[in-house]
Amino acid sequence: MQSVQDFVKDNFSWKWVALGTAGVSVFLLRRYVAGPRCPSKVLIPGKTVIITGANCGIGRATALELAKRQGRIILACRDTQTGEEAVKYIRRRTKEGQLIVKKLDLASLKSVKSFCTDIKESEPRIDVLINNAGVFQSPVAKTEDGFEMQMGVNHLGHFYLTNLLLDKLKQSTPSRVVVVSSGLYKMGKIDFDVLENKAEPDQKRTYHNSKLANALFARELAKKLDGTGVSVYCLRPGMVRTSLGRHVSFGALAFPLVKLLGWLLVKGENDGCQTVVYCAVAKELEGVTGHFYANCKEEPWAKSATDDEVAAKLWDVSVKLTEIN
Ligand SMILES: NC(=O)c1ccc[n+]([C@@H]2O[C@H](COP(=O)([O-])OP(=O)(O)OC[C@H]3O[C@@H](n4cnc5c(N)ncnc54)[C@H](OP(=O)(O)O)[C@@H]3O)[C@@H](O)[C@H]2O)c1
Repeated sequence: MQSVQDFVKDNFSWKWVALGTAGVSVFLLRRYVAGPRCPSKVLIPGKTVIITGANCGIGRATALELAKRQGRIILACRDTQTGEEAVKYIRRRTKEGQLIVKKLDLASLKSVKSFCTDIKESEPRIDVLINNAGVFQSPVAKTEDGFEMQMGVNHLGHFYLTNLLLDKLKQSTPSRVVVVSSGLYKMGKIDFDVLENKAEPDQKRTYHNSKLANALFARELAKKLDGTGVSVYCLRPGMVRTSLGRHVSFGALAFPLVKLLGWLLVKGENDGCQTVVYCAVAKELEGVTGHFYANCKEEPWAKSATDDEVAAKLWDVSVKLTEIN
């Protein structure tokens, strides 16, 4: 019989060592990129959570996680058909929780208002509002009310939505507002002339600016709601493989390389939603408000988001533009 030593000698090949090392490295890299999972395992039976843009990407993954935790999830989607497809997707993975699809187009203040009227009449409480929907680098376009599309959807639509639901959130304390921003908020700048349609936007920067608006809004909202029992959390999910880049095109030749790098270096949506879930449910965050999170832990606000004067002005201009009483 052949000894182990002879077997290794006969079959050893650097090729297999190299392949094994590469496999382990890829595995470890992907584990690192995925980031931590929400450390809180709390269940939320019967708690009502509204998630905007829940038909795909991070919103759908969040809906799945919170359904598994037995929540009552309202998927607020601009297209109810893709919302129903998301329900089927979630139902293939869990039988837990309740799933309700409702129409919400954040590019239309009329749609936001009618969504909120419906919620106020039909829902006895809102435990968590997750402002997740977003548009990235969309072609030049305006919302129904004439706002630049990315600022209109990412900031103004959510600003209006949150304000119209505030009374309900205050009646449901302890309740939460979770604002999904992006690491790119650090490079944003609020140009009030652009916001008020007095100057042309720089399309390349508008997403960054809208995500800074998310951060400034979250800080200002937390201040205004201090002591009410409604807590506000802002976060960046990290780079996540979703359809957010749908308006960005790569050449046909670069596409497979982009796909491969995306698979290797970018989180999947189930990993990408973990900080959203953490902010929505973690018991240790109850009563904590006005902070920024990434990788399921607190992170300091970037300087751009700490200008209280800009935050207050953004609030006032947003009130004027959305004509909230
Ligand atoms: N993916 C990333 O790497 C990344 C990084 C940082 C931050 N984020 C943030 O994460 C959030 C979720 O993005 P994602 O990556 O999951 O992208 P996604 O897969 O493209 O999801 C975006 C969601 O927003 C919805 N939406 C767009 N316009 C809307 C409107 N007018 N009214 C209502 N809903 C609208 C989309 O609905 P339709 O499908 O109908 O268009 C979709 O459900 C966004 O706020 C984004 O800025 C993402």
